[in-house]
Amino acid sequence: MAAARVADPMVSAETGGPSAPDGSPLPDRSLPSFERDVRRMFTHIARGYEWFDHVASLGNDLLWRPRALWDLDRFRRPGPLHRVLDLGCGTGELARLLARHYKATGVVGADFTRAMLDNATRVSAGRPERARLDFARATALQLPFADGAFDVVTNAFLARNLSDLSVAFREVRRVLRPGGVFLTLEITEPVSPMVGRLFHAYFDRVVPWLGGAVGSAGPYRYLPQSLRSLPDRAAFLTLLAQNGFPRMTARLQSAGIVTTFLAEAGGPSNPSNESR
Ligand SMILES: C[S@@+](CC[C@H](N)C(=O)[O-])C[C@H]1O[C@@H](n2cnc3c(N)ncnc32)[C@H](O)[C@@H]1O
Repeated sequence: MAAARVADPMVSAETGGPSAPDGSPLPDRSLPSFERDVRRMFTHIARGYEWFDHVASLGNDLLWRPRALWDLDRFRRPGPLHRVLDLGCGTGELARLLARHYKATGVVGADFTRAMLDNATRVSAGRPERARLDFARATALQLPFADGAFDVVTNAFLARNLSDLSVAFREVRRVLRPGGVFLTLEITEPVSPMVGRLFHAYFDRVVPWLGGAVGSAGPYRYLPQSLRSLPDRAAFLTLLAQNGFPRMTARLQSAGIVTTFLAEAGGPSNPSNESR
């Protein structure tokens, strides 16, 4: 067991790294160990992740994922979906939803944190959609899938945690067929300054306090920091356009507290250059 852990580059040296005073991981984007520290952080919070997510979002996350799929259905061109990839699938909430929503589609959930994937497998066991669900260990920056393997690639609340968005976008573009759709659901800055003030009072102060109360001060101090590192909506769309997605849009949810970014992969079978 110990030898296997050392041989795996995604598991080796998972101890150490920056921590909060309670010893929980506190990733620092400026350090070369950032990715490993993010993985260590998600390993730390994996067990209570879904429960804490529902509490901290005041239940709203249960609406955000289904609404993102409605946004996807309005954006994508009609046609069957054979294979869908959910990146940074965590405990598999969006992957299971995708498999229930698209009843003839194979869904792969990929994540680089083994503890999250273990929970995804456990929670999915026995569900009717399980037969069309696979889980794979992979980093979003170097995907172990063939070119053009997927019709749709999704990710929910992953983007803030990536060390290099452009690299990830190019990998997604590579594994999408031309005309395939990339969906990103992410926390964003609310549009109205008044909503923004309320949101930040809660997100920057109450959520870290709640995290500290359950022994995870680091991860939930990192959470608001990670939002500050994300490009704003316009810059995010520009980055998509620069990395092979000529048609894209942003749909706001909850006054902009989260955004569904949708982007269509360019390529020979999709010469469209329009942006909307
Ligand atoms: C905030 S959780 C979101 C989980 C899930 N998508 C959801 O909707 O609840 C982010 C997930 O992304 C994963 N992750 C972060 N960076 C990653 C990377 N570079 N490659 C693959 N997974 C990554 C983490 O392990 C974690 O499970």
